[in-house]
Amino acid sequence: MKRVKLHDKEFEIAIRYDQIQTAIGVVAQRIREDMKDEHIPVFLSVLNGSFMFTADLLKQMDFNCEVSFVKLASYSGAASTGKVQELLGLDIDISGRTVIIVEDIIDTGQTIAGLFKKLKRHHPKQIKVATFLYKPDAYKQTIPLDYIGIRIPNDFIVGYGLDYDQLGRNLRNIYKIVN
Ligand code: IMP
Ligand code: MG
Repeated sequence: MKRVKLHDKEFEIAIRYDQIQTAIGVVAQRIREDMKDEHIPVFLSVLNGSFMFTADLLKQMDFNCEVSFVKLASYSGAASTGKVQELLGLDIDISGRTVIIVEDIIDTGQTIAGLFKKLKRHHPKQIKVATFLYKPDAYKQTIPLDYIGIRIPNDFIVGYGLDYDQLGRNLRNIYKIVN
């Protein structure tokens, strides 16, 4: 499909499935090299958007590893504190362990910064970040992003796990919004 319509908006193809797989292959190789001497790293996949990337990335890991899934629930806190994010579903003990956060996309970095801070409280050995997509022009944080699949401009995109108001997660390609 070259174009899709989700709710009120049109999207056109931006990154094809084969390009996605090529990029994941490169990231996967780097992670394999870095993790070969680590004791059972745990991949922490951030739902919902990361489910496709997590599945494709993990199939390329050839060492003993674990995978677990967390979710960040946003809700409005007191007016003074603004947006509050709660970490849900961390059901394993990560103290002393190598954790690799698996994200679909990093935009401003607010989400990853919050998650990083919350995970550090559990005293892991180290935290690495693997993100499939990254918007460098939007990123405002200092947390190093260890593994990046594809750098993209500041367009709004959907597909391959990413949604526009919950639609589009099922699409195998990535589509960008048509203005
Ligand atoms: P950040 O906190 O600004 O880095 O935003 C991260 C989150 O915003 C992601 O996990 C996505 O849920 C969402 N997001 C950012 N950019 C896009 C996009 O282009 N399409 C769909 N979701 C996006
Ligand atoms: Mg996400």
